[in-house]
Amino acid sequence: MPIILAIESSCDETAVAILRGRPGGPAAILASEIASQIELHRVYGGVVPELASRNHSLHLRPLVEQVLEHAGVTVEDIDAYSATSGPGLASSLLVGATAAKAMAAAAGRPFLAINHLEGHLLSPFVGLGEVPPHVALIVSGGHTLLLDVEGPGRYRKLGTTRDDAAGEAFDKVAKMLGLPYPGGPEIEKTAMGGRPTAFDFPRSMLKDRSFDFSFSGLKTAVLYTLTDRHPESGTPRPEDLPDLCASFQQAVIDVLVTKTLKAARHAGRGTIALSGGVSLNSTLRRDFQRACEQAGYRLLTADPGLCTDNAAMIGFAALLRHAEGRSSPLSEPIDPNLPL
Ligand code: KG4
Ligand code: ZN
Repeated sequence: MPIILAIESSCDETAVAILRGRPGGPAAILASEIASQIELHRVYGGVVPELASRNHSLHLRPLVEQVLEHAGVTVEDIDAYSATSGPGLASSLLVGATAAKAMAAAAGRPFLAINHLEGHLLSPFVGLGEVPPHVALIVSGGHTLLLDVEGPGRYRKLGTTRDDAAGEAFDKVAKMLGLPYPGGPEIEKTAMGGRPTAFDFPRSMLKDRSFDFSFSGLKTAVLYTLTDRHPESGTPRPEDLPDLCASFQQAVIDVLVTKTLKAARHAGRGTIALSGGVSLNSTLRRDFQRACEQAGYRLLTADPGLCTDNAAMIGFAALLRHAEGRSSPLSEPIDPNLPL
């Protein structure tokens, strides 16, 4: 069975994984390591590209050595090397892609350039191996995408965000509320003690016939609520935070659930798959589960460790490509705006 080494470095996580699998069967993640830079960027309230790429360079080699050791394999056992080639930060992508190409060239093995979004999209299927027809919702810090998926490599975009990505809205609203970066997990934690109906925040574009999303109106509604209630400081009283977080979170989730089920109906698919960092949110998972049960859809979600950026999802996409006999030239460029 082929063994693939994968690198993910599109943003602020340096990740390396080794997977083994055959077409149609579940992939075994032999090792998967992530060197998170969250603490480093937290003081700036977001990702600083220059810092990110310097740290990818610093962490990559030790991580490769670590995963080889954890997987119990040597470079001679690796059949192909893969890396994320976009979308993402140019200088970050370059570090991972160049390293994977160099290893592939040195070992005389094929290189596979993988789209980061395809990695997310396929992440719920790592344990299954096969990818059945379905409607996919990718909700991450950079993207909100609804797709009709016929199978690996056969994707039709149904809708996307017209402004902020869902995760970006979580991060920006958290910043407004004085919560640390990244905002998604902080808002989820704070929302635990709050009432989701306390504030009537807008559910944008629900009546719209397209499958597009918009979260900037919601973000502005939170801001106006803050400045109306606390004109002098614009920051909420600590006792208002749980209600604000729960109401904001619920508004995002309602839109995502309603539009995704509508898209599945439209595309005639019986399976819905969720991926990306925001799909870690437990209220979102619960609401999707309930709605899918009621409407008779099968719901697939990625394992928690595969929701936020990781290299195992890139390795799984590469395994599927490799099984089709495909590879990428070493001249394949990175593309910060690579479409799916
Ligand atoms: O997929 P990901 O790691 O990176 C991108 O490709 O963007 O997603 C990161 C995003 C961040 O915006 C973060 O705030 C959000 O996912 N996120 C969450 C949760 N955990 C991470 N959003 C809501 N609830 C969570 N529990
Ligand atoms: Zn991502």
